[in-house]
Order: sequence, then C-alpha cells, then structure tokens
Amino acid sequence: MKVVIGNNEKISALIAEEFIKQVNEKPNCVLGLATGTSPLKVYANLVQACKDGRVSFKDVKTFNLDEYIGLEGTHNQSYRYFMNDNLFNHIDINKENTHVLLGVGDYLAYANNYDNLIKQAGGIDLQILGIGSDGHIAFNEPGTPFDSLTHVAELAESTIVDNSRLFNDISEVPTKAVTMGLRSIMNAKKIVLIATGKNKARAIFNLLKGPKTEEVPCSILQDHPDCTIYVDEDAYSLAK
Ligand code: F6R
Repeated sequence: MKVVIGNNEKISALIAEEFIKQVNEKPNCVLGLATGTSPLKVYANLVQACKDGRVSFKDVKTFNLDEYIGLEGTHNQSYRYFMNDNLFNHIDINKENTHVLLGVGDYLAYANNYDNLIKQAGGIDLQILGIGSDGHIAFNEPGTPFDSLTHVAELAESTIVDNSRLFNDISEVPTKAVTMGLRSIMNAKKIVLIATGKNKARAIFNLLKGPKTEEVPCSILQDHPDCTIYVDEDAYSLAK
C-alpha cells in the first residue's frame, strides 16, 4: 500500500485528479463511490473540473458502497440523496448509470444482485473509500468475513454514535444498512482511501501496521495490489 500525506485540501485534490485521469483514459469506466464527510472535497473538485470542461461523466457508471435500511432515497440522510446533492446533480452523468443500494422496498433482491450488476458493468475501475473510527469500510463492521459480498449489516454502536452528528437525535440513526462486502470492495481494480482527523488515527494505525484480521475490516486492503491511503497528519499520527 502506498501512503500519501497532506491536508484535506491537498489530498482531496490529488484524489480528484486520479478520478479525472481515470475517466479521461476510459470515458465509459466504472467508479465506486462512498458517502460521508471524507469524500466531500473530492466531489467538490470533480464538480468544478466538470464545469471547467476538464472531464465528462456522460458515459461513466457508478456504484455506491452502501445505504441505510429504512430511509427512502428522498430522505436527506439517505446516501442516494447525499450523492445527488453532492455530485450527481452537478455533473453531466446520466442518473440511470448511477447505482445506490436501496434502503426500502425490495432492498434485499437488489442487494443480492448488486455484485452481478457490477460484474456486468465490467467491474469497478476506481473505488474511493472512507474509513470508520472502528476500522470499518463501507458498513463492514469488525467481525465481517473477508469473503463477504453485498449483504445486510448491523451498524456497530460506535458507528451509530459517530453518524448521529448528522441526525437530529441518535434514536433516528438507522441501525441496519445494506453494504457491499469486503470481497466486493477487493474486486475493484484500484482503490483510494481517504482519512482525516485524530479519530481515524487508531484505524489508520491498524490498517498500516496491524495484523490482517477480520476484527479490523480495513486490514484486508493490505492484500490489494493497487491501493493508496491518503491521510492528513492527524490521521497518520499513530502510524508514523
Ligand atoms: C460511507 C461509508 C463509510 C464511511 C465511514 C467514514 O459510504 O462507506 O464507511 O466512509 O463511516 O465516514 P466519514 O467520512 O463521515 O467519517
């Protein structure tokens, strides 16, 4: 794994350039996308690059990592809403080519077919990940099997607490999600992970220096042939 260190501004700009390069080299590529605070500046850079005519997403397909169970796509904390609001509504992508797991209705059938859909699209060329303070990637919490595909997951207590900052009250945070599995993520051809802030330092230490164990879901990335970890000084502080 390669490590790139810089402030959020810098690492977000570098990751955005990786995305722009990917799309310009293969205009019909498949992108794997994440939600949360971590990729926000990356998406802002992509919106600007598209407005500036440096990149076009018109033939790109996207697959998001996860979605809360129980939230409609129109709910302002759903991940479909997040993606429309922070990226898709501001670039020239065809919304029909954007895939986000369903949180309501027949979400199980859709989840069970998600890895097939990705495969049919040709597989993910470039995947962006954030990381949870407990080392989760997507909603694969500690103890998730390394060979997992897309599935229903229970959120860990620490994740519910972390994510409650975005809801009016912690009781509103869904306790379950549908998520790509660890094997689904590892199938991506190239992975970039972004982490900033002190509360990610333990997870980044475990990712870079710890043993590979299902108790630390992100540690599976140690086996990926093309994975780069983008961190700020705070997130890197324990792994130095
Ligand atoms: C979101 C996702 C999660 C987040 C992680 C970090 O799609 O898959 O694993 O990346 O919880 O969240 P933030 O970036 O809000 O700290």
